[in-house]
Amino acid sequence: MSVSSRLQPFGVTIFAEMTALAQAHDAINLGQGFPDWDGPDFVKQAAAESMRKGGSDQYPPMPGIPPLRQAIADRYSAKLGREIDPDTEVTVTCGCTEGLFASLVGLVDPGDEVVIINPYYDSYPVGVAMAGAVPRHVVLRPPDFRLDVDELAAAFSDRTKAILLNTPHNPSGRVFDRAEMEAVADLCIEHDVIAICDEVYEEITFGPEHIRLATLPGMEERTVTLSSVGKTYSLTGWKVGWAIAPHHLTAGVRAAHQYMTFTTPTPVQHGAVAALEAPETFYDELRESYRAKRDLLADGLTSVGFDVHIPDGTYFMLAGYSRFSGEDDRAFARRLVEQVGVAVIPPSVFYDDPADGHSLIRFAFCKQTPVLEAAVERLSRLSPN
Ligand SMILES: Cc1ncc(COP(=O)(O)O)c(C=O)c1O
Repeated sequence: MSVSSRLQPFGVTIFAEMTALAQAHDAINLGQGFPDWDGPDFVKQAAAESMRKGGSDQYPPMPGIPPLRQAIADRYSAKLGREIDPDTEVTVTCGCTEGLFASLVGLVDPGDEVVIINPYYDSYPVGVAMAGAVPRHVVLRPPDFRLDVDELAAAFSDRTKAILLNTPHNPSGRVFDRAEMEAVADLCIEHDVIAICDEVYEEITFGPEHIRLATLPGMEERTVTLSSVGKTYSLTGWKVGWAIAPHHLTAGVRAAHQYMTFTTPTPVQHGAVAALEAPETFYDELRESYRAKRDLLADGLTSVGFDVHIPDGTYFMLAGYSRFSGEDDRAFARRLVEQVGVAVIPPSVFYDDPADGHSLIRFAFCKQTPVLEAAVERLSRLSPN
């Protein structure tokens, strides 16, 4: 075994495992969180045009090409309610994931503690490990997946350096409300903690307002806001993301980013400029389309016999399956692929203690309508306990 001791605990991602299984059984794959359609033409054309006309083939500036940083600053100045400086407060990264790693490695010291909300995007504990930091886990529990303020407070101490907060939240579909966000802010201020906010699903919400931690009083100077083109513009393969933070935090993000990746490919940065300039109707249509998919899948799963947790945001849906089986989620997910040909993700892999998530499975509904319909049809063949 030549994997470093730092990374050995994490093994192979569940996505690789479930995708291989899905392929072997010719299953409908509602596991991985990427759309089964292409990104918008106007964005692809902007990237293609930048390649065609030349000047896009060499290293772009380390923090990102100026027009993209400007487009990010313009869009987020409105969202964050303050004037963002594209030169000192915006860094273009290789997807949100690199922004996350750069934030952790650039701002957190070995031995510091980092609060992680469970279930988590599976890169979080790996990023914390790579920074040499110590994770402190806080669990969201069904049926409502609310942040328990007492549990959260117990995870903070004078050793806490940062919290990783993802809202809208994958995989629960929660959009944390103002009381929850204020509780996080109060603890960050009390313990002088940096908030690293993963907002990749910021535009995929179905009613509740997406509250940005950076906009709460006292949080602007201690928050790194991360996002990317992946989910909002259906361009997960482009890996163009950004980190927005006040100058003193941006210095840390860039200190890591300049040596991790240095930059992200130039043509897709030009494409991202066009994406960020999309009219508001683009986002309305995105939400409407995902709302229809959410409702279709939720109704279908409910009629088949699953206990659906209706998401307020993201394109994921958790569902209980006690009507069909008492197995743990990994065993049940494996059986779903093998017996009915539908691949899902067992969310226990997103918890520090897998037992906290072993009675649910996660469906991704970023798939074309006939694919979702076919999945429901296959699932209707499941026989109850
Ligand atoms: C919560 C969350 N953050 C980040 C990402 C990845 O973002 P990117 O592809 O921009 O690195 C994902 C992808 O599934 C995610 O669910």
